[in-house]
Amino acid sequence: MKRNKTEEDVYILAIESSCDETAAAVVKNGRQVLSNIISSQIDLHTLYGGVVPEIASRKHIERINQVIETALSDAGMTLEQITAVAVTYGPGLVGALLVGVAEAKAIAYAADKPLVGVHHIEGHISANFIEHPDLEPPFICLVVSGGHSHLVMVKNYGEFEILGRTRDDAAGEAFDKVARAVGLGYPGGPKIDKAAREGDKHAIRFPRAKVDGSDYDFSFSGLKSAVLNYLNHAQMTGEEVSVPDLAASFQYAVVDVLVTHTMEAARALGCGKVAIAGGVASNSELRSEMKKACKKAGLTFYYPSPVFCTDNAVMIGTAAYYEYINGVRSGWDLNAVPYLKLGER
Ligand code: KG4
Ligand code: ZN
Repeated sequence: MKRNKTEEDVYILAIESSCDETAAAVVKNGRQVLSNIISSQIDLHTLYGGVVPEIASRKHIERINQVIETALSDAGMTLEQITAVAVTYGPGLVGALLVGVAEAKAIAYAADKPLVGVHHIEGHISANFIEHPDLEPPFICLVVSGGHSHLVMVKNYGEFEILGRTRDDAAGEAFDKVARAVGLGYPGGPKIDKAAREGDKHAIRFPRAKVDGSDYDFSFSGLKSAVLNYLNHAQMTGEEVSVPDLAASFQYAVVDVLVTHTMEAARALGCGKVAIAGGVASNSELRSEMKKACKKAGLTFYYPSPVFCTDNAVMIGTAAYYEYINGVRSGWDLNAVPYLKLGER
């Protein structure tokens, strides 16, 4: 979408608090990052092996004001100079979302600025716009995070068709569960990614699930069970498990399915552009295998830098910009919606 030169610049103050990162950013005209502050709670949740919702909400409350102040000062801006305030309002942990939503409403109301509620997955998809000025819809986006695995046709800004989704665990969830089972700890994705670099991805042949009735849906619970069975069997027979080989083989099984489904969809729909998004999009094997597959098929491949794959507020500011220029405004009754569907308002 081209901007008219006579239009004024749009500065969005964006807030993200849907899970365990408290984040704020200032984004100019959708694609220019003026600041990007992320306060991660990973250290706290590591103690419990996963995100504890109650702790997440409390930490968001403690940190959010400072994170927003720093985002504004890093951008060299005051609240008065901001055009609109954007916030993730779903999906996510309800208590965590509420902290961001309440804060954004208070700031926008006090400063007399418009409010734009943003869908978290739309944010992840929009992360691809940040570093690719040439990228415009339509394109296919594979969104793989801790809570979601979706194959999405991005028809236009803010306009999506879901081609496939997971029937059970999200891809990131599978990474986290397998990492816990082999004692690598939380968050599992980066730890499996690292361990896999020392392993052989062909060492163990794990199953690739095909879901009945859909070409593009995913299922990762069978793969997770296969890994657990492999570990149990090794324990019972006294065989030593090579964690790097297991990590590499499991990771390859996940990536193989993700790449195959994405390429099938691109071919069937005649779409020449493929993007990836979400925390798992920072996985090195997924990035390199998708790059290879796209090159072979003559498709252009887009992927965000790792810092824009995992949760951040820049992606929310980018998504909000396109919603804002399309006239979307949220009311003061904006609420957290933990199971918000993509494309719904
Ligand atoms: O997008 P995100 O930060 O939060 C959600 O919206 O869920 O994604 C977090 C997920 C976690 O499951 C984490 O293990 C996974 O992304 N992840 C990775 C990698 N980095 C983060 N999975 C595989 N490889 C990675 N390098
Ligand atoms: Zn996310």
